[in-house]
Amino acid sequence: MSCFLVTGGSGFIGSAYIRFLMNSTNHQVINIDKLTYASNLESLEMMEKNPRYHFVRGDILDEKLLGGLFKEFHPDYVVHLAAESHVDRSIQNSRNFIETNIFGTYNLLEISRKYWLSLNSKKKLKFKFHHISTDEVFGSLSSMGLFNEESPYDPSSPYSASKAGSDHLVRSWHKTYGLPTLISNCSNNYGPYQFPEKLIPLTIMNAMEDKPITIYGDGMNVRDWIFVEDHVEAMYAVILKGEVGNSYCIGGDNQKTNVEVVHELCNILDAILPRNTSPQSSYHDLITFINDRPGHDFRYAIESSKIHKNLQWKPAETFQSGLEKTIQWYIKNRSWLENTKSSTKTL
Ligand SMILES: NC(=O)c1ccc[n+]([C@@H]2O[C@H](COP(=O)([O-])OP(=O)(O)OC[C@H]3O[C@@H](n4cnc5c(N)ncnc54)[C@H](O)[C@@H]3O)[C@@H](O)[C@H]2O)c1
Repeated sequence: MSCFLVTGGSGFIGSAYIRFLMNSTNHQVINIDKLTYASNLESLEMMEKNPRYHFVRGDILDEKLLGGLFKEFHPDYVVHLAAESHVDRSIQNSRNFIETNIFGTYNLLEISRKYWLSLNSKKKLKFKFHHISTDEVFGSLSSMGLFNEESPYDPSSPYSASKAGSDHLVRSWHKTYGLPTLISNCSNNYGPYQFPEKLIPLTIMNAMEDKPITIYGDGMNVRDWIFVEDHVEAMYAVILKGEVGNSYCIGGDNQKTNVEVVHELCNILDAILPRNTSPQSSYHDLITFINDRPGHDFRYAIESSKIHKNLQWKPAETFQSGLEKTIQWYIKNRSWLENTKSSTKTL
């Protein structure tokens, strides 16, 4: 049994990771999360009574709190997900992105380094710091090519620039101080419990509320989609089997234009939750094109052969099966959606 200190565990990917650790392993999990608008305590309420799970509300910028957690729980692994994560918000106001994503990562690295130096040789050998990052740090692809671990950094938005900054800090803490770090750069995630401001949950929510389904620009931007449960299994492979100092690109082998994604969602919704209109109409009729996002990257696509080959991980879900599961989850969990919406005034 190991102790995982997870930051940002009440967000979309963090909560999926913690559900995986609690349901499929016997590890202990400490979750530190500031509970920003993007989090939802209900995503982990089934874990609250489990003695292997411990939640702390706190900010990764709080040095004293973090130091206390390391002293109290002696983590074997730090898995760092806490971040401001929405590109549109970073364009409107980037300060939080710089503070949490860059300064917060610095804080966590420094506290981890001091803690790691204080460990006995057995614990020191086991300790790893895993930074969860995005393929957006590599910028935009034209219609050809794929990102891999050697791709140069070329971020476009304040969000991706702040994540690129944090990746560089993590790599430098390994090179300069020897801290055993790992980085994974993953493509766009989708699945249950995602805050409904990103394309897939936003489309599902707007469809369920019979509101316009918006698409930026001409909708031809391409993303490589991965089901969140595949991502968390990849993350687990990285922390257990990854080679320290390395980075791993994680993708779902699912390149789709935004228009394709939205049409696919509308097809599934038409089949399982027909619109309540008379005469009968389709969700496709709700699709509306809006002005493009400034600096909108054209295409992201990941070549995941390193993690496939070296860590024996491959995504299990097809895009169709993953979307069906996601839509079914949002239909069954309208109260989660309602509570998420009512706790933030930004939707
Ligand atoms: N969603 C994606 O498609 C995707 C893809 C690749 C990488 N990532 C990365 O994975 C990580 C998690 O993404 P997500 O989609 O789950 O994000 P999210 O926005 O759903 O969750 C982020 C969590 O971090 C917490 N948090 C924010 N600031 C904090 C702070 N200062 N201190 C403590 N907690 C704080 C929030 O409360 C929230 O629970 C991020 O680092 C993101 O960059 C996301």
